[in-house]
Amino acid sequence: MPIKFPQFSKTKILTSVFFIIVGVGTGCAIFLYKNYNPPQHPGNETYELDEFRKNNWPYLNNSLPIDERVDDLLGRMTTEEKIGQMALVEKNSIVDPLDVASYGLGGVMSGFGGKPELNTPQGWLDMVNTFESSARHSRLGIPVLYGVDANHGHSNVPGATIFPHFIGLGATHDADLVRRVAQATGEEMRATNIYWSFSPNLDVVSDTRWGRTYESFGSDPNTVAELGKAYVKGLGVLSTAKHYLGNGEMEWGSSNNINFSIDQGVTKVDEETLRNTHLPPFKVAIEGGAKSVMAGLNTWQGQKMSANHYLLTEVLKEELNFQGFVVSDWYGVYEISFSKYKSLVTSVNAGIDMVMLPFDYKSFVYYMNEALRSGDISEERLNDAVRRILHEKFALGLFDRNANDRPDLSVLGSQYNRDIAREAVQKSLVLLKNENDTLPLSKTTRRIVVAGSAADNLGKQSGGWTVEWQGIDGNWIPGTTILSGIKSTISNDTNVEFSQTGDFSTTNNKADIGIVVVGENPYAEGWGDSTHPSLSEADLTTIKKTKAVSEKLVVVIISGRPLDVRKFHKEWDALVAAWLPGSEGQGVADVLFGDYPFKGTLPIVWELD
Ligand code: BGC
Repeated sequence: MPIKFPQFSKTKILTSVFFIIVGVGTGCAIFLYKNYNPPQHPGNETYELDEFRKNNWPYLNNSLPIDERVDDLLGRMTTEEKIGQMALVEKNSIVDPLDVASYGLGGVMSGFGGKPELNTPQGWLDMVNTFESSARHSRLGIPVLYGVDANHGHSNVPGATIFPHFIGLGATHDADLVRRVAQATGEEMRATNIYWSFSPNLDVVSDTRWGRTYESFGSDPNTVAELGKAYVKGLGVLSTAKHYLGNGEMEWGSSNNINFSIDQGVTKVDEETLRNTHLPPFKVAIEGGAKSVMAGLNTWQGQKMSANHYLLTEVLKEELNFQGFVVSDWYGVYEISFSKYKSLVTSVNAGIDMVMLPFDYKSFVYYMNEALRSGDISEERLNDAVRRILHEKFALGLFDRNANDRPDLSVLGSQYNRDIAREAVQKSLVLLKNENDTLPLSKTTRRIVVAGSAADNLGKQSGGWTVEWQGIDGNWIPGTTILSGIKSTISNDTNVEFSQTGDFSTTNNKADIGIVVVGENPYAEGWGDSTHPSLSEADLTTIKKTKAVSEKLVVVIISGRPLDVRKFHKEWDALVAAWLPGSEGQGVADVLFGDYPFKGTLPIVWELD
């Protein structure tokens, strides 16, 4: 019997061939992408900068002007090395620290909580040095820029001085103090070999339901501008003006993130408002020396900020003459379109110079190579971005450091810096209400009862961005709580009793004074978006119980923003806004007992009627 072959129509054959080609093509692309490896430098080519110096290469000669050094270095770099400089990689996604050398990564960062295994100052220094030493062993020995969110002190690191969050600094309206706070922060950062902070935050806040309200100096553009500039001047390491532009005025309910309500949302203002309210702090900070700017995660006029050529290039770089580099925020670059390639091309062409890469750098290198090969990103744009980044590395002196430079870890949490933090706390307290001159209190008051969830809790009084992204609970970092501050301020004859929940035994014999310290639990970013920031039922109960056993009641609120206490405060004799004071709770006691006067004024509206 003759064998029967199946009959194929011409169309079927062509369709099958088409699918086979597409399938094999996709397979090859995936294979190439997965196995993409950067050019490896032979293992024995391990140089230190000190070795390089013997070559007399101009970029290593610190007597030459920076521009000349940058030109010389750029001229020696391959396209791959330039692409690497544009990558800012979250340290937890780096599988092998040697990748810093083989990919020539420009920056490594700690997303908050991106900590070393041994979470101590020494652990941080060792971690940073590992990446740094890898970078120095690359072909041209280009140092890596390590970045952290030093939002209120070098606050990732247990043991660092934790300053009041910016909203409290906004209440001080004291530019010189803010400059000193920044100086101390920069000093503590440098001790761990970190030269880049993703601060100051220059958002001008209009809606206090936003979970990032406390990261801002407040709602007045002039205050934000003046304090922001002071911060930039004081920091002494690379600062980042963020979040460009209009993050303080996003619309409630417009968030791009399903977990949030306002954070990462849409800025629905016209260009005039953007220019009059939100741009001035950036302009002033740039005049003051800010050399990196972070593009926000917000959307304006239907466009993601990192895709906005007009705002990033025409306004920021051309109109404001910003000479530093623009860094994207977290995964922002890839939120532009479904195609990673397209997103990257759009944002780099819009003006992003350094791309924050929280999860994966290999695909970045691959797509950038493709974009340059195809001409979707020009050589000129690449050189411009890398030039800006290298310029700052030279300006920071990273190329001129010596391998034997030994940073001094003892500055972390030094008494000197703690004293600045304590002064900042003193100056940040705002007296919202003071019936019959209840405050200041006498140090010789006979009997005081102290209560409240935030009275004896360093984690709570420090807020978010403290050791962990969402903050911590309890007293396991160094510092003074408000309770311990009170105890060390009053006379020996004063009796102080503490109950967190306000459960005091002697109800028939009232205390002279009750002090209740309550407020918000720590949060960060959109996790703090709240329809109605106010006190919890538990806090209100504690206040009631304490009032019942006190002749006079003082309520101290620890919060990142104004809380709505309109229905309750009539019952209280005095009310103090202490914001998020940080590690030096003693500063609160200093003011309650009159060692320092109330000087703070509201940086943002707090309605009491
Ligand atoms: C925040 C930035 C921060 C970055 C790095 C982002 O989620 O929006 O303000 O600098 O993370 O931690």
